[in-house]
Amino acid sequence: MVFSKVKTALRIFIETGPIGIAYKLRNKYGIPIPLGKKGLWRANVCEEVRWWDGYFQNEVVPKRKDYSRLRTDTPLQERVVELLPKDREIVQILDVGAGPLTHLGKTCPGKTVRITAVDPLAAEYDRMLRKYGIEPLVRTQKGDGERLTDHFATNTFDLVYARNCIDHSYDPEKAILEMIAVARPGCFVLMEHHPNEAETVNYVGLHQWNFSMNDAGDFIIRSPTGETNMTQKHQSVCSIQCVTLNDGEWWLVTRIQKHPLQ
Ligand SMILES: C[S@@+](CC[C@H](N)C(=O)[O-])C[C@H]1O[C@@H](n2cnc3c(N)ncnc32)[C@H](O)[C@@H]1O
Repeated sequence: MVFSKVKTALRIFIETGPIGIAYKLRNKYGIPIPLGKKGLWRANVCEEVRWWDGYFQNEVVPKRKDYSRLRTDTPLQERVVELLPKDREIVQILDVGAGPLTHLGKTCPGKTVRITAVDPLAAEYDRMLRKYGIEPLVRTQKGDGERLTDHFATNTFDLVYARNCIDHSYDPEKAILEMIAVARPGCFVLMEHHPNEAETVNYVGLHQWNFSMNDAGDFIIRSPTGETNMTQKHQSVCSIQCVTLNDGEWWLVTRIQKHPLQ
């Protein structure tokens, strides 16, 4: 009994450090240790690696070269293509929170697609790719959504993309402002997330931010401590519009257009 508790504590410590132990003491034994949003994020983000490891074993490895994210001929998704600047033949796309293998397709008729992918867990994903002997078409680089301008110049990308990840971040408003900063003036940030995911799971684990839209199509971020109407708050730098759609699961599609230089 004591031995198994020590073993569990050791595993948590190796995976997440002292913050993971603090999280466990808080959640399991009700000890009121303040962690803050970043602490909660740190304690939970390693769950992502465990999820991807299972996914690699069951889906990616058995299909290998037929797996869509490892094929050079997978078309770029229509929702992305329609937001690309019409006047550019070579397009630079940034995928934020890309995971180990970007979801983005690699081809687009009439255009050369250059994808850059970033994720805070890139080093852990690299270890996983090595473990399964998989060479990605686009290697994900280490980077938090909240710190994109540490890595990239402002006004660089023709489109910035984020799928199912910014609501898992520690500061989504900052991450979105960083995505807008690295997009070229007049270009788009496209985000695709599950609507109301955090409220559905009652704000557990990595789900600390709830993404939704109001009746006017404004983009709303909620947390247990408050609500931000992103469309209204940031209208001086961009226009933000949301729609929901169902392609087997529900998505909140958020299109953000950075204002052109005046
Ligand atoms: C569910 S996965 C989605 C991966 C990929 N976008 C996809 O759709 O397959 C969520 C990803 O968000 C990443 N993530 C968590 N916090 C982040 C942050 N602060 N900035 C950027 N990405 C983050 C995680 O590391 C993880 O790879």
